[in-house]
Amino acid sequence: MPWRRRPFRGSDLERAINIADLREIARRKVPNFVFEYLEGGAEDEATVRQNRAALEALRFVPRTLVDTTTRHQRIELFGRECGAPLLIAPTGGNGMIYPLGDLALARAAASIGIPFCLSTVSTVRLERVAAEAGGRLWMQLYVMDDRRVAADIVTRAGAAGFEALVFTTDANVFGSREWDRRNYRRPGAPTARNILDALRHPRWLYEVLLRAGVPRFENLVPFLPAGQATAVGGSTVIPKLFSPSITWDDVRWLRSLWRGRLLVKGVLSVEDAERAAETGCDGIILTNHGGRQLDYCISPLEVLPDIARAVGGRLAVLIDGGFRRGSDVIKALALGARGVMLARATLYGLTAGGERGARRALEIVTSEIDRTLGQLGCRSLAELGPHLLRAGPPGGT
Ligand SMILES: Cc1cc2nc3c(=O)[nH]c(=O)nc-3n(C[C@H](O)[C@H](O)[C@H](O)COP(=O)(O)O)c2cc1C
Repeated sequence: MPWRRRPFRGSDLERAINIADLREIARRKVPNFVFEYLEGGAEDEATVRQNRAALEALRFVPRTLVDTTTRHQRIELFGRECGAPLLIAPTGGNGMIYPLGDLALARAAASIGIPFCLSTVSTVRLERVAAEAGGRLWMQLYVMDDRRVAADIVTRAGAAGFEALVFTTDANVFGSREWDRRNYRRPGAPTARNILDALRHPRWLYEVLLRAGVPRFENLVPFLPAGQATAVGGSTVIPKLFSPSITWDDVRWLRSLWRGRLLVKGVLSVEDAERAAETGCDGIILTNHGGRQLDYCISPLEVLPDIARAVGGRLAVLIDGGFRRGSDVIKALALGARGVMLARATLYGLTAGGERGARRALEIVTSEIDRTLGQLGCRSLAELGPHLLRAGPPGGT
């Protein structure tokens, strides 16, 4: 009998050893079109692959014979301690994946003392997240053509005690997620095949769509015509979120409206990073939207060293895109990032098992961070630096 490895096929969250195991549980729990929404990237998905390739191209050069008995992975962010160098990234439509998914993610983040960033297109109203989840909350903002919507969200997030505002700027034109689009006859109307698939997932159908009613973009309800706020994929409202008219004037405008921390999410060049610092931002998020917007885009990791060198002393430089392992996180920190945002990694956990699943995802990544740190001969994240990294062999994985 030839030897062969058997991939994880279980459903017990505690037996999921890595994020890929959680992804496998998640894939089986929801209809294919829901998983496709979570997973997919734009056009050829070259950006999605590049995010991983850039991380996989780096190798560690560990130090040895260092006493690593006592290790910790706490960081300081905006004057407060985080239990890990992680944040949960904003993702819209979480209620399609798991009932009240935003609350579950926020609670999971709070359980290890890291910030949770709520999307403009969350399916739980921002005030409810603040009242019921607690923890450190950040608010992500899409600025639409009608600036009154942004003004309303900013005012409400301030009143609800959100710590930071994250202005997403890489969504001025909606990315074409082709696999996602094929799942709908027209916006909001899944194809017959997908309806059948939904029927084959009765638990998802009952818990997500029937018990609590079809999830809606609750923050936007007052601004949308009745019936148009539903979060079913390909929704008619989504493209309206992406205003092509956003500029640095909007950053200045937001700076004047918002008293908390302000971050721009979508920076990938030194010039824009400098501009963010000059415009009074407190941080930037280096991102290509997880490969869901511009295809054939550079990976944030590739531009991180230059940007961290240019503005790291003035701004909190955060990063996301393709992070699935603690070792990935360590690589970004060694290249100058202050923290790493997780999106799909924690969404796999959420899909697999709600708050417990999201917590499991965080448990996995933080234990990997701790192990990698020790194996590198480091006791804290402050000891990381580019001296611990080398580019891997060309073409190697
Ligand atoms: C399902 C999904 C929904 C997303 N929704 C938003 C959103 O509403 N606002 C936003 O700024 N970014 C959104 N993003 C992008 C993430 O915040 C993040 O930049 C990206 O997914 C990171 O890459 P990763 O998923 O490989 O970790 C979304 C990503 C996914 C996967």
